[in-house]
Amino acid sequence: MKDKLEAMLIAAQQAVATAADEAALQDVRVQFLGKKGELTAIMKGMGALSAEERPVIGAVANKVKDELSEAIEQRLVLLKQEAVSQRLANEKIDVTLPGRRGQFGSKHPVTLVTEELIEIFSSLGFCVAEGPEVEQDFYNFEALNIPKDHPARDMQDTFYINDEVVLRTHTSPVQIRSMLKQAPPVRVIAPGTVYRRDSDITHSPMFHQIEGFMVDENITFGDLKGILTTFIHECFGKNVGVRFRPSFFPFTEPSAEVDIQCVICGGKGCRVCKNSGWLEILGSGMIDPEVFKSVNYDSERYSGFAFGMGLERIAMLKYGVNDLRLFFENDVRFLRQF
Ligand code: DAH
Repeated sequence: MKDKLEAMLIAAQQAVATAADEAALQDVRVQFLGKKGELTAIMKGMGALSAEERPVIGAVANKVKDELSEAIEQRLVLLKQEAVSQRLANEKIDVTLPGRRGQFGSKHPVTLVTEELIEIFSSLGFCVAEGPEVEQDFYNFEALNIPKDHPARDMQDTFYINDEVVLRTHTSPVQIRSMLKQAPPVRVIAPGTVYRRDSDITHSPMFHQIEGFMVDENITFGDLKGILTTFIHECFGKNVGVRFRPSFFPFTEPSAEVDIQCVICGGKGCRVCKNSGWLEILGSGMIDPEVFKSVNYDSERYSGFAFGMGLERIAMLKYGVNDLRLFFENDVRFLRQF
């Protein structure tokens, strides 16, 4: 029995030494020292021993048990240490690695032209005003001399909230709101979002305009031409040709549309300018006395001009964008180019 015990100890010590982790070591403990383990199995032979042999074998068995327990304890400490160093090695942080940069966005091209136009008109003495996008019929139409039967009021063109409230179809209502708030002299520009029931390759149901107007004593069509020509030269370059074409708007009389020489072909004629050499960029005119009436301005004493233009169109011409839809898709590959 003594030989059996000693052989078991050697086998057990080997198993302890090769146990790869805590779980394997636990298995070894169960295999040799557990209730149904090998030591118990050997000790079952004690009954067959003589009274002299029993204490001797008992002492050997105890020694084997103690040595094995001690070996298991030591191995356990070692395995724990190894596990810790392993983890530290895996979790090592390389502080010399370059950091990851946050991504920077860029301004939307419509924002860029809006800011540029505000800058140009600010330098000419204009202040920025804003109005609501959900607008009353009075400001959007009535006060601007757009009568009830005007085609612009058709359900086809205007988003109606109810009979008296619309999504503003242009930024012109800001003229009325501004004039009701202050007496002349006034110089205001009003950028903003507008809505129309129009959606195809060249029309979006939501787009942007900038409105401008100036009222004082002795304002003439010459002032209109001077200010708008200055603006166009600042925005598109000193050499671009400008022309004023008679037109009609209910809130101005006389009215003019303003064209610039085609920025794509330089006036020779191309697809963009439909071979005319000119591009229409804004509507303008001398403010109609009917409009002054609705804001209680004395049209005998004061006169003024107004203008309005689409900001997507200006952005397309300035940046050479050939598809309106690109402005609304918010594809970062497009936006990153600005
Ligand atoms: N409100 C007009 C539109 O949306 C643009 C416009 C034309 C504005 C002439 C003006 C103007 O102030 O004088 O089409």
